[in-house]
Amino acid sequence: MNRMTVAVTGANGFCGRHVARAVAATGARVIAVGRQPGPVGEHRFWDAASPTGPDLRGVDAVIHLAAAVGDPRPGTDADAFTRVNVDGARRLLAAAADRPLVWVSSASVYDPRLDRSSVDEDHPRAGHLNAYGRTKAIGEAAALDAGAVVLRPHAVYGSGDRHLLPRLLRAVRFGAITLPGNDIRITLTAVENLASACTAGLHWAPGAYNIGDPTPHSRDEVVGWVLSAVRGPTRIRHVPVPVATAAARVIAGTARLIGSEPVITPYSVDQLAHDFVLDLRRARATGWRPVDGMADYLELLMLESFTGRSTARSR
Ligand SMILES: NC(=O)c1ccc[n+]([C@@H]2O[C@H](COP(=O)([O-])OP(=O)(O)OC[C@H]3O[C@@H](n4cnc5c(N)ncnc54)[C@H](OP(=O)(O)O)[C@@H]3O)[C@@H](O)[C@H]2O)c1
Repeated sequence: MNRMTVAVTGANGFCGRHVARAVAATGARVIAVGRQPGPVGEHRFWDAASPTGPDLRGVDAVIHLAAAVGDPRPGTDADAFTRVNVDGARRLLAAAADRPLVWVSSASVYDPRLDRSSVDEDHPRAGHLNAYGRTKAIGEAAALDAGAVVLRPHAVYGSGDRHLLPRLLRAVRFGAITLPGNDIRITLTAVENLASACTAGLHWAPGAYNIGDPTPHSRDEVVGWVLSAVRGPTRIRHVPVPVATAAARVIAGTARLIGSEPVITPYSVDQLAHDFVLDLRRARATGWRPVDGMADYLELLMLESFTGRSTARSR
């Protein structure tokens, strides 16, 4: 890749910053395409929600990460998600034309109503619980039709995370966190694994690829490790899944009425209550090898809590 020019959309975001640096480390020139500059390379302004496509002049390949991300209150924000994840994504596809294209999608496209204890890339993609999963699925379907390499990571963690860790910390009340149902097995994705898949993926055959850490984790173990690294010992309590789901509906409904951010939603309960293990064989067959990033992440969190400095804030 060392003489290529690679456009990275969303290069100022949590994952995009790691991806842009990984691309630069291969010797390629990076063009950060988005509303704000990335950590490296030239910046070209693009608002994915505007009617214009990105300027990709002189670009050899594209890695697309820009997206409306999050767990919006049910029934709200759907248009904002569609404007970026569907309409903006289509404009990006048109501009990329037949250049090599890596499209960062999400395991949230998979149907949550079905067993997810071993999910391969043919798992159905319907039944989404929020606008994020729904619009990511529509966007990636267009990318697959256009011949892109589509990556589906699940629950990305690492330095600068502004989604998972903040949500987990918000859920702690009086030194305890309440989790739905019994422990589950879950594939998590070190951001370094997503970044290495993005650079390698520019050379993979078109199609969808699950991306994650080499082995699934126990939910309760990881929650315990992370919370104790950030806040010290935290009790884990369990409630039956139907109780958590009913509470999430009430909380999300109330939040919609008063316009606040709900602590839990039916989507977050679903993510925490059921096994979610990705089958990585297709990505591994390319020669890509994920690493287990959890020990390094915990070390980073402990260092941050010791120094009082957060990578999510100081990126
Ligand atoms: N984090 C995870 O656990 C996870 C899991 C699976 C998949 N993913 C995927 O990974 C990608 C990156 O997510 P992330 O976790 O890094 O989220 P993030 O930190 O919120 O980054 C999102 C990026 O998208 C950009 N963006 C949003 N709206 C835009 C717009 N209208 N025009 C141009 N750029 C816009 C943001 O730029 P601004 O700062 O200007 O808004 C930011 O650079 C997304 O495609 C997401 O679906 C993430």
